[in-house]
Amino acid sequence: MAAGKGTRLKSELPKVLHRVGGKPMLAHVIAAAAHLVAPQDVYCIVGFRHELVQEAVASTGVRSVVQEEQHGTGHAIMTAAFALRGYDHVIVLSGDVPLIRRETLEQLRDYHLAQRGDMTLISAEMDQPFGYGRILRKRTRGGNEVAAIVEQKALRPGQERVREINSGIYAFAVPPLLAHLNELSTDNPAHEYYLTDMAAVLGRAGKRVLVVKAGEAKEVLGGNTRADLAEMDAFLRDAKGRALMEAGVTIYRPETCVIDPDVEVAPDVVIEPFVQLLGRTRVGRDCVLRSYSVIKDSTLGAGVLVRPGCVLDDATIGDGALLGPYSHLRPGSEIGAGAHVGNFVETKKVRLGRGAKANHLTYLGDADIGEGVNVGAGTITCNYDGVHKHKTVIGPDAFIGSDTTLVAPVTVGKGAYVGAASCITEDVPDDALALGRERKRKKD
Ligand code: UD1
Ligand code: CA
Repeated sequence: MAAGKGTRLKSELPKVLHRVGGKPMLAHVIAAAAHLVAPQDVYCIVGFRHELVQEAVASTGVRSVVQEEQHGTGHAIMTAAFALRGYDHVIVLSGDVPLIRRETLEQLRDYHLAQRGDMTLISAEMDQPFGYGRILRKRTRGGNEVAAIVEQKALRPGQERVREINSGIYAFAVPPLLAHLNELSTDNPAHEYYLTDMAAVLGRAGKRVLVVKAGEAKEVLGGNTRADLAEMDAFLRDAKGRALMEAGVTIYRPETCVIDPDVEVAPDVVIEPFVQLLGRTRVGRDCVLRSYSVIKDSTLGAGVLVRPGCVLDDATIGDGALLGPYSHLRPGSEIGAGAHVGNFVETKKVRLGRGAKANHLTYLGDADIGEGVNVGAGTITCNYDGVHKHKTVIGPDAFIGSDTTLVAPVTVGKGAYVGAASCITEDVPDDALALGRERKRKKD
């Protein structure tokens, strides 16, 4: 169920697309569902700005059902009822309950099937149950049968003390669900069709309504407010940090680091406070990532030192390279093994050869720079003529003096030496000395 607007978020973005732990809430829920069944058996009920939601889930292979107007969770299932024909059982998940663990869903499925439940729901004990539907259990032996679920707004005096809440995740046997769905009514404070009322409806029809408890209350947190999102995000970041530490990564002050779920970090890497590792980043053994670096979709070899304050996006860094402080590596930067990229150096679509150095105040864009090249302070590749981008090629072991401007397209040959403050507009042959600057003249 992912059709709601999420009024309490006060957002134009559909609630289920708000991100926790680096992914939309709905992506977490779909991944959990797809763990139980094939993607083509997962149906996503979409409504508010459904084109956005459908686009976001397009790559997962799940199907979608549009609930044009949203009249409650019961109405969502009525809208999708046609899709249930031919199935014996269905698990209903809420698009805003993303922390649910796969093991808990398996437990729900197994218990529901083994106990021949008609409706089985996941509950949890919450210290602060405000806002959630509360479970009223039947007083039977074993005590796992549910009499009703009462929504917050409909609680009678005394019932607000019930700490067992409804997670919004259920298993249903399809035939009784379809047979009794039309008994739901909008006779409640919100004038909505509540799926939760199916507990009482099925109970009255003599069906079995059961409950299983989640291992941890955290996993059934609902993302209704921005504060809920922050809490869930912190939980997921914490879990990722713990998993990495378990796998041999040192993280100082992990609560300050932001590491996306798909990031891979090898053992003996050291991560200092306030580092962000995002997207598909991979970090090789023995790297040291000092504070305040933001590294996205990048691959670092072994033993790379990232000094403080670097920004990397879609960059590839060779073994033993040294970056920063304050380097900006933009998409397509390929830094060779043992190369240095120093402070206030920006690179874009650049191959910097093995052992090459660009240590200070430099812009290198659309360039191919050979092994062992020394790029002096303040060097600029002038790659853009206002209309087109052009390439700079620097051969191995060339020396580029400080404050050089290389006006592309241009090639500096291998072993060539470019004097400081040169403006290079023509190709420089191998091993040549190039000086492209005003000669100082004595006044006569
Ligand atoms: C719901 C449950 C409540 C439970 C809580 C757990 C009901 C009536 N209440 O309350 O017992 O404790 O979840 O988090 O179900 N949605 C639709 N179509 C609609 C309405 C909602 O697809 O017409 C979707 C929403 O996008 C959301 C989910 O269903 O993903 C739950 O809806 P929401 O409005 O958040 O329900 P809660 O008030 O949190
Ligand atoms: Ca909710």
